Amino acid sequence: MEHWSPDRPYHPGMSEDGPPQTAAEVERATTQLLGKQGPFRPTVRLLERAGRTWVAKDYRACTPLYRWSVGAWNLRRERKALERLRDVEGVPHVEAVAGRWILLLTHFSGRDIGKADKSRQDGAFFASLQCIVTRMHARGVVHLDLRQRRNILIRPDGAAAVIDFGAALCLRPGGGLLRWLARIDESGVLKYKRRARPGSLSAEETAILDRAERRRRLWPFS
Ligand SMILES: Nc1ncnc2c1ncn2[C@@H]1O[C@H](COP(=O)(O)OP(=O)(O)O)[C@@H](O)[C@H]1O
Ligand SMILES: [Mg+2]
Repeated sequence: MEHWSPDRPYHPGMSEDGPPQTAAEVERATTQLLGKQGPFRPTVRLLERAGRTWVAKDYRACTPLYRWSVGAWNLRRERKALERLRDVEGVPHVEAVAGRWILLLTHFSGRDIGKADKSRQDGAFFASLQCIVTRMHARGVVHLDLRQRRNILIRPDGAAAVIDFGAALCLRPGGGLLRWLARIDESGVLKYKRRARPGSLSAEETAILDRAERRRRLWPFS
């Protein structure tokens, strides 16, 4: 809800300090395209306006068949998962929805763990990453794509952020399926922790990772 105040100009229907609300505004505010582009993935845009930044996931350029099937499904799942995680620090929030095909998200500055220096992947970083993943699971959300390094960021203050909930599922908190799938996320995090800080895993964490790796060896498709 916007309120007029004497030190803030009032423009009916326009809110230049909030996130862009329409596709045209999203295009005007785009300063960079992030990630890869293609007919079977959303265009990810960096938006900048009035000193603020956002990320837009824009499905308009996908082929119509993909957009109306998998694209629509991914967009709906990402939006639902992020709305469930609204109060979790280190996860993007849905800042606006610009029409049917564009989701506006909080932008995190920082580098992904594939590019960040190993020295920054310290105990405090992994503690914050594990805290996000635990809170996510407590709300019934599994990410399922944490083995992708680009989806985990190290922020300038050393804390973690988790992005790209396009493969996430919302399940019943505490349910059996959730517990089973949560192990995929947990083993993804432990894999990075062991790589960056060999010897830092507890006996229980080592056992979880060993079990996950045994299962992966038996799985013929990966
Ligand atoms: N909230 C965000 N904050 C910062 N960078 C982001 C954010 N969301 C996406 N990105 C950047 O855009 C890239 C692609 O976005 P992502 O959501 O992973 O889409 P895709 O479905 O194409 O993998 C990411 O790898 C990251 O570099
Ligand atoms: Mg991604």
